[in-house]
Amino acid sequence: MPQTVINKLTHFMTSLKVQPYAEYPMSKIAGNQMDEATDLFAKMINAKNNEILIGGSTSINLYVLSNALKNFLKPGDEIIVTNQDHEANISPWRRLEESGAVIREWKINSNTAELEIETFKNLLSNKTRIVAITHCSNIVGSVNELKKISDLAHEKGAYVIGDGVSYAPHGFPNVKELDVDFYTFSLYKTYGPHLALLYGREEILKNLPNQNHSFLDGYYPETINPGGPNHEELSSLIGIYEYMMEFYEHHFHNSKDLKIFEKIKKINNLFAKHEEEIANPILDYISKRDDFNLIGKNKISNKNRAPTISFTSKNKSSKEISATLVKNNIATRNDNFYAWRCLKALGIDTEDGVIRISLTHYNRIQESEKLIKILDQI
Ligand SMILES: Cc1ncc(COP(=O)(O)O)c(C=O)c1O
Repeated sequence: MPQTVINKLTHFMTSLKVQPYAEYPMSKIAGNQMDEATDLFAKMINAKNNEILIGGSTSINLYVLSNALKNFLKPGDEIIVTNQDHEANISPWRRLEESGAVIREWKINSNTAELEIETFKNLLSNKTRIVAITHCSNIVGSVNELKKISDLAHEKGAYVIGDGVSYAPHGFPNVKELDVDFYTFSLYKTYGPHLALLYGREEILKNLPNQNHSFLDGYYPETINPGGPNHEELSSLIGIYEYMMEFYEHHFHNSKDLKIFEKIKKINNLFAKHEEEIANPILDYISKRDDFNLIGKNKISNKNRAPTISFTSKNKSSKEISATLVKNNIATRNDNFYAWRCLKALGIDTEDGVIRISLTHYNRIQESEKLIKILDQI
């Protein structure tokens, strides 16, 4: 957690914790900070500030969104879900079967664990209305081609819902470039408090039914969520922006005129370069071990994979290996990470799960080397 986030949270709690948006100074500042946080996040992901909503978690965001979108569906309309996603972007859509929707499953190739575009093309039809897909799998680590998927879905008039939870910690997305209709990620995984952002294209948000208090009809995007966000946590999101900009100032010079999302793009490239350097030795090591099964690509190149590395062992349980790593001060665990359909498709016991190593921009090559040394003793 960056100190900038902690400072914002502390300041709000100690100096601004009143009902926001009234005219007295403390309340006014509180409301302004909440608005500023929303504005800055909109700018970071290249959205308009009335296109983003801060909710409690990605699971909650997707649940309220599916509830809102079900009104657009006619019996027989089709929804494509994958078996690579975290359950948060599957169950809310599968549940719409109760409203007459037909669910089509985009299955991974069980040899590579990848979602293939050809399979998707065969599932798309003139009845497809919704495509729910993860931008990056929290098990396989693969980055799915959301732009290509959006183009294909839009040809059929379908909406694309991107789950960016495993993607965003490695670089905030440019939602307009991806051309998705909705996109959500958890802010507690992008160095902030336990909140989650939901982006929605304005033309669609405008027409969603009001799920908030009845007199708020028309006040999108507030209409999506019953109630408002956590005030102090929302305000502390400014600290994530400050952290990113401090990072930017440290590494780049003479480009002050760039837009915020353009600065984010440069930061992302730097994150990606570093993450590739620290993750590739681990991917290489695990993929060469005869007794380990690495899930997903054995090399990151050109941002095709996040440094989220899952594997199992032929001789030992994931629990045993994870326990050894934890004993050696490696913060990891064995689990299905709620992507249990993905594990089932790969023939992995969902109780024991995989061992997952997650790296990010602040990890160092020495940590990768230490991990490899410990794995070598197993
Ligand atoms: C890929 C992915 N999607 C969705 C979620 C759910 O996010 P939340 O905990 O904010 O509900 C997670 C959580 O780990 C995840 O990894």
